[in-house]
Amino acid sequence: MAAQDFTSSVAPQPTGWAKPLPRDERVFVWLVLASVVAMTAVVVGWLYLGRQNVPSTAHATTPRAFAAKVAQFAKQYGGPDGRVYVPPGTDAYMLASRYSWYPELVLETGKQYTIWLSSADALHGFSLVGQNLNLEVAPHHAMGAKITLGKPGRYLIVCNEYCGLGHARMAGHLDVVSPRAMQAYLTAHPVKSTATTNAAASAGAAAGTLRLGVRGTALAFDKSTLTTRAGKVTIAFTNDSPIPHDVAIKGHGVYVKSATVTSGGRAVVRAVLKPGTYEYLCTIPGHAAAGMVGTLTVKP
Ligand code: CUA
Repeated sequence: MAAQDFTSSVAPQPTGWAKPLPRDERVFVWLVLASVVAMTAVVVGWLYLGRQNVPSTAHATTPRAFAAKVAQFAKQYGGPDGRVYVPPGTDAYMLASRYSWYPELVLETGKQYTIWLSSADALHGFSLVGQNLNLEVAPHHAMGAKITLGKPGRYLIVCNEYCGLGHARMAGHLDVVSPRAMQAYLTAHPVKSTATTNAAASAGAAAGTLRLGVRGTALAFDKSTLTTRAGKVTIAFTNDSPIPHDVAIKGHGVYVKSATVTSGGRAVVRAVLKPGTYEYLCTIPGHAAAGMVGTLTVKP
């Protein structure tokens, strides 16, 4: 093939066009390289330098195992008001699930606590409002974050990872009290041994008590209707699911609810009811809407 057969609209570059770069171009290349190195150093150094990272440790877990740990912790340190008073030096446990933070913790001001966080279902975000503290809370991953809170008061926890339709309502809180208040509480309520039977749970064995459970890990009770006679009505609730639930009786001006329980925990709700149709439901945000509701018929 002859050279003349080759055609192009662009004239070929003369040989030797690739001249050494001028000085300003060389400086530019070095500046780019230097900034890449600097930015990489910041990204890696951020992990080790400064106080912006929450000191934490982590280990693998399962939703069931972690929820069981939380249930045991809540039972051991839980107070009569349903909150869990954590003695300084004791690790705290908190379970995230759609759409709650369980249990309610009471901490002492100025003391460093390790709060273990994990999720029973989806990815959630633990965000302590006003504290610049944001942690991812994933299932199968238990993270122990070291947290010290200064002023007594209530600190709001919100979820900062979209986790479903009830995400916006997934709020909780940490209560922080003075050393004097914590000491007064601990003196009045000595920490229970784990062997102690739950008084509320054993009281639920009384005759005429309605029994209610949870269908597997679904957001559903094991019964969609309950029927009883007017008078003192007791629902003994057992939650074998790792997801925290409670049970409330609602209707005709009555609205009472049980404690929140998880992982085999038992709780009782009582009311004096006149004949009529009532509702029983779980009050954890999103659960009744998902179907965790039933009809309670009270006969004369
Ligand atoms: Cu949990 Cu959003």
